[in-house]
Amino acid sequence: MLEIKNAVKVFERGTMMEHTALDHLSLHLDDGEFVTILGSNGAGKSTLFNAICGSFYLDEGTVSLGGINLTLMPEHRRARHIGRVFQDPMRGTAPNMTIEENLSLAHSRSTASPLSFAPTRREKALFRDRLAEFGMQLEDRMKTKVGLLSGGQRQVVTLLMCTIVTPRLLLLDEHTAALDPGTAAKVMEITQKIVAESHLTTMMITHNMSAALTTGTRTLMMDSGRILFDLSGEQRAGMTTEALLEMYSTTTHEKLDNDRMLFEKAHQG
Ligand SMILES: Nc1ncnc2c1ncn2[C@@H]1O[C@H](COP(=O)(O)OP(=O)(O)OP(=O)(O)O)[C@@H](O)[C@H]1O
Ligand SMILES: [Mg+2]
Repeated sequence: MLEIKNAVKVFERGTMMEHTALDHLSLHLDDGEFVTILGSNGAGKSTLFNAICGSFYLDEGTVSLGGINLTLMPEHRRARHIGRVFQDPMRGTAPNMTIEENLSLAHSRSTASPLSFAPTRREKALFRDRLAEFGMQLEDRMKTKVGLLSGGQRQVVTLLMCTIVTPRLLLLDEHTAALDPGTAAKVMEITQKIVAESHLTTMMITHNMSAALTTGTRTLMMDSGRILFDLSGEQRAGMTTEALLEMYSTTTHEKLDNDRMLFEKAHQG
C-alpha cells in the first residue's frame, strides 16, 4: 500500500542551520494497517507526513501509494488520495461556510463535475446519515457555519471531510492534542469508527504513549528522522509505556529530560 524507500530530507542544506529531518527512512504499510507514531519534538514525524503529502520533494528516496509512484507528483494531485487532519481545529475546514457546504466541497472532489459547495438533496441525506452516526447532534446543525463550532466538533467535520470520499491513506497529526480530555476521547472513538468502517490505511501521530500502544495494530517510535522501533504483534501487546521509555533511553542515550517530556506529554493526552 504505502511504500517509502530511503527517504532523505535535509532542511537549510549548506548553512549553519542544516538539519536532516528524514534520514534514510524506509517504511512499508499494508492495506488497512493502522499505525501510531511516537517520537520527541523534532523527531521528524510531521516531516514524514509532509513528505507523503508532497509539501516538498525528497532529496533522496521514493514514496509510492497503492502502486503509484508519488515521488514527483505535486501536492494537489496527491491530496485526492490522502486525507490529513492537523492538531489545529482551525485547519481543514472553511469557517465561513456551513457544515453541509464544507462537506459538499469535499464530496465534489470525487465526481467529475467541478468543485461545488452547494449540496444536492442526495448529498444532504448522505451527510446527515454520516453525522448522525457520531452522536454529536451535528446532523441537526448542517446549516451552521463551521466557525461557530467547538474544536472537537470541527475536528469531527474535518475527519468526515477527509473520509467522505474514501482516501487511500488517512494521516492524523496529533488531531486530538488541542482538545480537552473528554472531547479528545470522543474524537478518538469517532476516528476509530471511521477507520474501521472503511478499513482505512491510517497513520496517527500522538504524544500519548498509552494511546499509541493500544490504538491500531502497530506503533513506530521515531527519533532523529529515523524509525527507532517498529512494534507490532506480541512485542507490542506486551509493551508498557515504562518499558518503551526504558528502550528509548537505552537506545538513544538521551538524557532524562527528553524522557520526562515524552512521559509528561503521554499523561496530558
Ligand atoms: N520547512 C522546514 N524548514 C526548516 N526546518 C524544518 C522544516 N520543517 C521541519 N523542520 C525541522 O525538521 C525537524 C523535524 O520537524 P518535525 O516538524 O517533523 O518534528 P515532529 O516530530 O513533528 O515534532 P513535534 O512533536 O514537535 O510536532 C525539526 O528540527 C524542525 O525544526
Ligand atoms: Mg509535528
